[in-house]
Amino acid sequence: MKPIRKAVFPVAGLGTRILPATKTIEKEMLPIVDRPLIQYALDEARAAGIDTFIFVTGRGKEAIEDHFDISYELEDTLKKRGKTAELDALAASLPGAGDAIFVRQQRPLGLGHAVWCARRIVGEEPFVVILPDELIYGPLGATAQLTAAHEQRGGNLVSVLDIPREATGSYGVIAPGEECYGVIEVRGLVEKPKPEDAPSTLMLVGRYVLQPEIFSKLEDQKPGAGNEIQLTDAMARLIGEQPFNAIPIAGRRYDCGSKAGFLAANLMVGLSRPDIAPALRALLKAEGLDLPS
Ligand code: UTP
Repeated sequence: MKPIRKAVFPVAGLGTRILPATKTIEKEMLPIVDRPLIQYALDEARAAGIDTFIFVTGRGKEAIEDHFDISYELEDTLKKRGKTAELDALAASLPGAGDAIFVRQQRPLGLGHAVWCARRIVGEEPFVVILPDELIYGPLGATAQLTAAHEQRGGNLVSVLDIPREATGSYGVIAPGEECYGVIEVRGLVEKPKPEDAPSTLMLVGRYVLQPEIFSKLEDQKPGAGNEIQLTDAMARLIGEQPFNAIPIAGRRYDCGSKAGFLAANLMVGLSRPDIAPALRALLKAEGLDLPS
């Protein structure tokens, strides 16, 4: 079985839910405490052994490319000022030379189309898709959980989280089949079902292992919800043709593409960081929010 070496990060979306902040700042560059979302995504991929990082960008997304490059003047100034810790943090954030590849999605036609734009770089091997605006926070990286399952099972794998039944109308959920050692067979994918119609309460999370055959499905995929070419629709067409399973992911998920999710992520990541938490707690307490520790 081929190991997974490549990750695709679709980052060409317009981020309309966070406008006007995302008019000139890429959604994926919004910071959670002190790192942009895209950095969490890259670090998560790296922790899973990925060595080729494919970013599907668009116009106005140049800061992502610059973020993963050296900043000569800044580094020189930090060096002269003896700011070693800051220099080390900058160095640790970089991918290796030649490990990051940028491809453009000329029109934001949907997530499925963005993934398809990476087809020539991915080639004939399995790969992961990581949606950087979904932050999955926990001790074990979500991508590492997926790639470990792929080593055992192969095929296509999606990650899922159990949600309250009344929330299914806002998410994609799986129609589950047999379960074996924590791996759940996927028999179908249903977008935003009413709670009473939902085949499960297992919500699709923005981390996928896909086989290269997905590209031929995406090639002729018709626009779906929101008139966009949806990755979920193309994945649904692979079910039955290839092994398709789901694994429940350990970690807390924050939809940082929504205002409330973005704020919650900042708060919760801040509260989990020993260097930030005491000061943050004190500030919240002064506002009358005395959080239990
Ligand atoms: P979203 O569904 O969050 O869409 O995309 P969006 O356009 O970024 O944001 P809203 O809904 O308008 O606020 C999920 C991921 O897919 C990427 C986004 O950049 C994000 O990482 N995407 C989406 C693309 O790369 N291209 C697209 O055409 C659409």
